[in-house]
Amino acid sequence: MTGVWNKSDWRNKPRVQMPAYRDAAALETVEAQLAQYPPLVFAGEARRLTARLGEVAEGRAFLLQGGDCAESFNEFSADTIRDTFRVMLQMAVVLTYGAKCPVVKVGRMAGQFAKPRSADTEVIDGVELPSYRGDIINDISFDASARIPDPARMLQAYTQAAASLNLLRAFSTGGYADIHKVHQWTLGFAADAAATDKYRDLAARISDSLDFMTAAGVNSGNSNKLRTVEFYTSHEALLLEYEEALCRIDSTTGLPVAGSGHMIWIGDRTRQPDGAHVEFARGVQNPIGLKCGPTITTDDLKRLIDILNPENQPGRLTLINRFGAGKVGDHMPKLIRAVQEEGYKVVWSCDPMHGNTIKSASGYKTRPFENVLREVREFFAIHNAEGSYPGGVHVEMTGKDVTECTGGVRAVTDEDLSARYHTACDPRLNASQSLELAFLIAEELDHRLETRRKAG
Ligand code: PEP
Ligand code: CO
Repeated sequence: MTGVWNKSDWRNKPRVQMPAYRDAAALETVEAQLAQYPPLVFAGEARRLTARLGEVAEGRAFLLQGGDCAESFNEFSADTIRDTFRVMLQMAVVLTYGAKCPVVKVGRMAGQFAKPRSADTEVIDGVELPSYRGDIINDISFDASARIPDPARMLQAYTQAAASLNLLRAFSTGGYADIHKVHQWTLGFAADAAATDKYRDLAARISDSLDFMTAAGVNSGNSNKLRTVEFYTSHEALLLEYEEALCRIDSTTGLPVAGSGHMIWIGDRTRQPDGAHVEFARGVQNPIGLKCGPTITTDDLKRLIDILNPENQPGRLTLINRFGAGKVGDHMPKLIRAVQEEGYKVVWSCDPMHGNTIKSASGYKTRPFENVLREVREFFAIHNAEGSYPGGVHVEMTGKDVTECTGGVRAVTDEDLSARYHTACDPRLNASQSLELAFLIAEELDHRLETRRKAG
């Protein structure tokens, strides 16, 4: 983005939420090794994602970003990746139908290993240990030695990310992503006794559209678009030693690119305009996400946009809002107006997860699904009122049938939480809740189009 940027400049800035590695020599060895490895993604792909997000910024596409809160070394398997990928494709078909525009699919996958934490330490039964910070940094087991940051974990994260991406690329183009097959899975969900008529009706309308296309001669055999998908990866660029080691120069443009994933984002706790994370992100040409929580002011936001997207390139910057149900109205209108006044081109995306975390009566960290839905509805209502475009959604989800968030048509109750609570960090929507969310958003998008059509 600028000629005077260097990939190690972040080291001169205040850093937060990053581990203090004890063994500097071991850290340097790992960094040197990673710096020699191939990048996981290529600059041309990152540029293409920026172009796709540029379409979102202009209101001609919709962004679906989702996946684990934290990927884990233990849960790593082909089935886990496949199931999350499958639900994202199902959601994307439903959303495409509602939005009547392309859906840009970005996984929180193949690199989402580092976690910011609200407390530096964790106390269990009077024992205090450093917090777990994601598998790329330390181990989740509550044990003093396991919680020591180990730089060698970066190599395992790299290997897992490479294998995940390999599988995602194969699924995307190898026949697994065929739209007819994806829709068949959704029909299974809609036929479920618990699903409402509303979902059955929307699913039937999608079936009709696919049948019409087949009748008109457009099918998976002759249309690549029905058989393959573009799927991108993303993660929070929290562990800057890892990000720097995978940073490369794009041979086409001569500009730096983060080789760790297609899109990277800056967390709500690490978005200090003068801090290390903003410094790193500003210099790479990948699309950047910026989490915006309740403490962000319009001045902060303007300053951050000027730093992160000085050329005002549509698609470069996605603002991921996470205020919490009932609080969206206190924050979003002023941010939207500031962006409109300055003429900034941004993607507005809604993260209805991180502002809605509570502790259940049984002691689990959970998110009531009704609050997730409510935040999404508020996000749409405010953009509709302000004349801006609600461009996307960012969710923590999995394709597995976990019991981490309460609610949904196949209702998960507080008592159910202990049954299949597997997350390494925050509670995720399960497959059924994810799809239900997609139906709700499709409805919102459909309603928006209808209102605009009527308004001429
Ligand atoms: C996250 O996306 O997992 C996260 C920690 O979000 P935030 O930075 O918005 O709290
Ligand atoms: Co999270």
